[in-house]
Amino acid sequence: MAAIMDVFEKHVFVCFSGKTCSQEGGVEVFDALRKEVFERGLKTRFRINKAGCFDHCGNGPMVVVYPESVWYAHVKPEDAREIVEEHLLGDKPVERLFYDGRGRIRE
Ligand code: FES
Repeated sequence: MAAIMDVFEKHVFVCFSGKTCSQEGGVEVFDALRKEVFERGLKTRFRINKAGCFDHCGNGPMVVVYPESVWYAHVKPEDAREIVEEHLLGDKPVERLFYDGRGRIRE
């Protein structure tokens, strides 16, 4: 019989291997988000996943958080702490990083 596991509260997808995000720092953003989650002992609540291209290249590094389907553009490693504290733990997405399909909403 398979073990019963809790599902993650949120999934964070980081564009990691697409043409542009990987050149714009996607790998570093993934590492920073993962480090924040692991160091805070949150790895059973929140999952940081590597993702392929979101087909919105040139706005990277891009991050998408589910289940809210919040898209972030031009994320920097130093934004990781705010994303974890405000969005993942506080349920308040980081508006200054919002992406609306054309670009970051607030520059
Ligand atoms: S490479 Fe990240 S959206 Fe395409």
